[in-house]
Amino acid sequence: MHHNTFSYAFLTLLAAGLGIATPVGKPSLVTTFKVNLSDETPRMLKLIKESKLPDEPEYPGIGSTFGIDLDVLKGLKQQWLHDFDWNKQQDEINKYNHFTTKIENLDIHFIHHKSSSPDAIPLLLLHGWPGSFLEFLPLINPLTSPKNTTSPSFHIIIPSLPGFAFSSAPPANWTNADTARIFNTLMTSILGYEKYAIHATDWGADVGYSLYGNYNTTVRAGHFAFIPFFPLNGAQLAEEGVVLESELERFELEMAEEWRRTGNGYFILQSTKPNTIGLALSDNPVGQLAWIGEKMIDWSDPRAGSGPSVLDRRELLTGVSLFYLTKSFVSSTFIYAQNPNGFKDEYTKAATDAPLLFSAFKYNVGFWPPAKVAQVGNLVSYRNHDFGGHFPGLDNPAALVEDLREITTYWVTS
Ligand SMILES: *[C@@H]1O[C@H](CO)[C@@H](O)[C@H](O)[C@H]1NC(C)=O
Ligand SMILES: *[C@@H]1O[C@H](CO)[C@@H](O)[C@H](O)[C@H]1NC(C)=O
Ligand SMILES: *[C@@H]1O[C@H](CO)[C@@H](O)[C@H](O)[C@H]1NC(C)=O
Ligand SMILES: *[C@@H]1O[C@H](CO)[C@@H](O)[C@H](O)[C@H]1NC(C)=O
Repeated sequence: MHHNTFSYAFLTLLAAGLGIATPVGKPSLVTTFKVNLSDETPRMLKLIKESKLPDEPEYPGIGSTFGIDLDVLKGLKQQWLHDFDWNKQQDEINKYNHFTTKIENLDIHFIHHKSSSPDAIPLLLLHGWPGSFLEFLPLINPLTSPKNTTSPSFHIIIPSLPGFAFSSAPPANWTNADTARIFNTLMTSILGYEKYAIHATDWGADVGYSLYGNYNTTVRAGHFAFIPFFPLNGAQLAEEGVVLESELERFELEMAEEWRRTGNGYFILQSTKPNTIGLALSDNPVGQLAWIGEKMIDWSDPRAGSGPSVLDRRELLTGVSLFYLTKSFVSSTFIYAQNPNGFKDEYTKAATDAPLLFSAFKYNVGFWPPAKVAQVGNLVSYRNHDFGGHFPGLDNPAALVEDLREITTYWVTS
């Protein structure tokens, strides 16, 4: 895994610390990295094969109302065994440029793809749970090397959050604000970008919002598909005089209300007892498939895998395999417990004049109408899509690419 090692020149300035309390670590090396989990796959396949699911559902006809449907789980399990090859997925993943670096004693894994355009804007993409760097792969080529040469270009940086995939599990007291600090170090002192834009979703939105508000000289545009504030329900919106404009908005509100009613059990569990679910499933690939798969299916467009969506069953299995094979399921669940105030009830405005762009997708599990997003930042653009869900990088990559290109409209170069 360690091939070319090379150091960068921009290492000294930050430690002077412009009011940043925690000293910046010692970023010194970026190492090229290749994904190779092939040696771990025989055990995974053996466990999948040996795990027995019931022949018949206990309560036929309930569909997915009470959690993942047995037939769906069985179908996915069969596909994992007979029509899925991790090594092939891994070859696809390795078509991108992976690196690792050490920041504040954590190994941080990231993808870094540069555009050949001199005007390209550096863009940091931030995933959440149960996402990973995988959810942004379809965006890389269109954003770095657009087919239409008049389209804007970006340098793309996709880190794995601490505790996810190949990034080290952080200390127990680590928060998303700490992640924001080390990712700003990654972008500036390690990769040498003076100014950059971000795209963020799910827990990544908490990291991204911290970057957007607290690093306002380096983060000069923020695009969000999620914000770290609990969505209001219909009654609360009405009380604030917020009127929904369309059927699409009313549908999205209903999705968010349903998450609050029946979809947030995992959130409370992982916020309070992550070790129990983490250890229960740590060496149980089919268990992780049920736990993660339910969310990936539920939070996506029912048309996922068709039309603009590349979020098919193989993609889902690749995502679950990554958690199992990198042994990061336990540490990934801790992000909930480590950030008890990650999602806030009170909407506050970030201290920045940087533009904020927002994209809503029909089947996402959080809904914020434009009036609410405008309360938290300098909202300049709000787009709503009737295809896609919580993982738009996979479920509607074409629309997300178009929305991210809009960043250039508001990017100030001087
Ligand atoms: C992965 O590592 C194994 C040895 O552990 C090696 O045989 C195999 O060729 C490697 N695969 C890739 C894609 O590098
Ligand atoms: C390329 O992009 C420009 C500007 O966005 C647009 O006007 C033009 O129609 C596009 N060309 C093609 C071939 O799609
Ligand atoms: C967090 O934990 C680490 C040990 O893992 C310790 O060195 C550090 O001082 C702690 N930080 C805070 C703010 O408590
Ligand atoms: C950055 O934030 C500080 C307060 O934290 C504020 O005084 C300053 O105006 C902000 N700068 C920009 C460019 O938004």
